[in-house]
Amino acid sequence: MAKSKTVFYCKECGYESSKWMGQCPGCKQWDTFIEEPIVKKITYSNAGMKYTEPQLLSKVTTTQEERINTGIGEFDRVLGGGIVIGSLVLVGGDPGIGKSTLLLQMCRELSAKGHKLLYISGEESLKQIKMRAERLGKFEGELLLLSETNLDRIEDTIQKLSPEIVIIDSIQTMFKEDIGAAPGSVSQVRETTGTLMRIGKGLGISIFIVGHVTKEGVVAGPRVLEHMVDTVLYFEGDNSASYRILRAVKNRFGSTNEIGVFEMRNEGLAEVSNPSEYMLQGKPEGEPGSVVAASLEGTRTILVEVQALICQTNFNMPKRTAAGTDYNRVNLLMAVIEKRLGVHMSGMDAYINVAGGMRIYEPALDLAIVLAILSSYKNKELDSKTLCFGEVGLTGEVRAVNMPEQRVIEAAKLGYETCILPQVNKETIKNPKIKLIGIRNIREILSLLK
Ligand code: TYD
Ligand code: MG
Repeated sequence: MAKSKTVFYCKECGYESSKWMGQCPGCKQWDTFIEEPIVKKITYSNAGMKYTEPQLLSKVTTTQEERINTGIGEFDRVLGGGIVIGSLVLVGGDPGIGKSTLLLQMCRELSAKGHKLLYISGEESLKQIKMRAERLGKFEGELLLLSETNLDRIEDTIQKLSPEIVIIDSIQTMFKEDIGAAPGSVSQVRETTGTLMRIGKGLGISIFIVGHVTKEGVVAGPRVLEHMVDTVLYFEGDNSASYRILRAVKNRFGSTNEIGVFEMRNEGLAEVSNPSEYMLQGKPEGEPGSVVAASLEGTRTILVEVQALICQTNFNMPKRTAAGTDYNRVNLLMAVIEKRLGVHMSGMDAYINVAGGMRIYEPALDLAIVLAILSSYKNKELDSKTLCFGEVGLTGEVRAVNMPEQRVIEAAKLGYETCILPQVNKETIKNPKIKLIGIRNIREILSLLK
């Protein structure tokens, strides 16, 4: 019997190999290889573009690329100022995070402005989409819906209708018949995306592709196609918290430093234009162990509350947890406090929490963690109109962080009166609106607790 022809793919990054491997040489993940039938090579006609002669850079004329505003400010910001015509955008995220909701809301806004849209779902029936649309509120314009997973038929439909914007929900349900692998497999996900790219670039249609992030199973993750698309957006958030962050990971038409903040409500996603206020809701006043930090998410400052609870341990090994920040960093900072300030930390249980469900791994949070730990340990509070930021090094020195001025401005905007920050950063800020306390070493902060 002839041996069937198969090949192994890493379902995380799409690395191809003729034999199974335990660790992927591409992305260094373990146990990610899956076997798939070999796909006959499909050649694309240069993504629908005509052959052209090389040109001199100085002779190339630039025109402002045409963009369509989605009508959702936070979404436009992440896209770099609206949808670029003919672009291919991947919206990735965990299942149930709100990708379909976000795109349907975009469709509602755009259809009201008279744009021609086609929403293709391979996951839900038309009835289900209608039910979701009803939750979101009134649709003023018209939206074309299609429940289909066969990409050849989808291609025909797109060519017949020539819409301006197409939504594919999700890429893992789409398949091409001439590829022998199951929908969601690495070769299907790649080939269907390749086909969509050709259609989009050829006809000047903007296409949004939804991709589920998959932790296990045989479904290929969105990372496999990150390099093929123009823009990669990830929708993140905690299932327990209602806020959602839309982050650009790659953007050929804008900055990747932008984030959009949303809140999942009963009637869909609402934009959160002032995330700091939202994150500080319910912050206790005058309690030891609670400190506000000015942190940066992309280019936006978000004020968050860091909480610490320090108590005597009853075990040989003290218990420590860090919710919303780096556990190892917390351990390191506690060691620095022990060594540099002589405060007995090794016999203490420590629970650190970034309130509001945000996850922040920025070193600028260090000073707030140290202050919160000391505040809880000494049972002394930090003034409730004071906040801080700064990186703490191993000798207890407080190091500079980026964009200090922006952090101070945000603090002033929300009514804070004092900011504790690295001395080096303080010197760069001219005419601050609030009082600045510059410090060089964590030894100087003990006197700030009352
Ligand atoms: P969905 O957009 O289906 O997620 P995805 O497409 O990323 O898998 O969002 C599903 C979740 O959002 C679901 O758990 C219910 C919740 N949700 C609301 O809370 N309010 C709403 O108005 C809608 C439409 C969904
Ligand atoms: Mg969905």
